[in-house]
Amino acid sequence: MNAPAPFALLAELTHRCPLACPYCSNPLELDRKSDELAIEDWVRVFNEAAELGILQLHLSGGEPAVRHDLAELVTAAREAGLYSNLITSGIGLNEARLGELAAAGLDHLQLSIQDTEPENADRIAGLVGAHRRKRVFAGQVRAAGLPLTVNVVLHRSNIARLGAMVEEAIALGARRIELAHAQYYGWGERNRAALMPDREAALAARDEVAELRARHADAITIDYVPPDYFARYPKPCMNGWGRQSLNVTPSGLVLPCHAAQTIPGLEFWNVREHGLAEIWRASPAFEAFRGTEWMREPCRSCERRDIDHGGCRCQALALSGDARNTDPVCSLSPHHGLVEEIAAAGRKDRYVMRGRPAR
Ligand code: SF4
Ligand code: FES
Repeated sequence: MNAPAPFALLAELTHRCPLACPYCSNPLELDRKSDELAIEDWVRVFNEAAELGILQLHLSGGEPAVRHDLAELVTAAREAGLYSNLITSGIGLNEARLGELAAAGLDHLQLSIQDTEPENADRIAGLVGAHRRKRVFAGQVRAAGLPLTVNVVLHRSNIARLGAMVEEAIALGARRIELAHAQYYGWGERNRAALMPDREAALAARDEVAELRARHADAITIDYVPPDYFARYPKPCMNGWGRQSLNVTPSGLVLPCHAAQTIPGLEFWNVREHGLAEIWRASPAFEAFRGTEWMREPCRSCERRDIDHGGCRCQALALSGDARNTDPVCSLSPHHGLVEEIAAAGRKDRYVMRGRPAR
């Protein structure tokens, strides 16, 4: 089918990371350093992305700062005419490297924080002292003149501190904060019982965000990604499969979303063998769930099918066993009872973290 021009590309430069967050969006099977694309491959991908009409490039990981050629990658993005956004934990960057990135033309930086309570933040990050280093780093970002957004993944053990998170982001010099509830794929799915807040806490958070937006309207923009499991309708995952964005993994596979490799039978093409435009328009994985033809009932005849696109394919697979089903988060799904059962089930306090013992 005819594919619209994509808007954004997420470049997962590496899966290597000094942190071990229990909701990490990386797959359970991480790409090795030896499999990572070389800078020449990325430069070609960035140029092909610009030719395809992509405007925004998100440089992500793992931790993108572990790549020593990060400044060269930013230069390549600038030369391709892409708006570049670095998504980082800040660990591994210092004043000198930030200066290089700013000089290379980096447009924006997103810094993740795990909590406002340092001890819990470090526990979630899996690194002692991480929170203190992030606070110092935010000051260095400001000094380098780079616009800053703070990202926080919300879950059971930090959801009580929404107000403090917004205040901390303002104090760190951010003009935007993204408060996003944990998504339950990969590591997040493994840790679902430890991450998922109670229904009351999730609903209270939604109301508190509205109040915080009004109170801090002059100081900061608050983006909020609500929790799936307590909603009536699912999120429009990726704003629709193959509609606006694509992800390139460290080893060069091009995915319609970060969890797409969990769906059996999809054929992903690699930038080492195909051009980005060809992959976007014709690769089997992108064609699989584009548009509405693939939909089953109740999505197929639902008036919301062009609004939420049937929810999330990866969640439909994880919960119902078939990616073509309506996302079970939807109250109209025949599998919705599964979501209600999970939301009402007992919770845990221990996490399984990538590469670390349970804590
Ligand atoms: Fe969305 Fe499908 Fe539910 Fe309709 S039935 S609201 S299209 S997920
Ligand atoms: Fe894959 Fe939602 S994460 S479609």
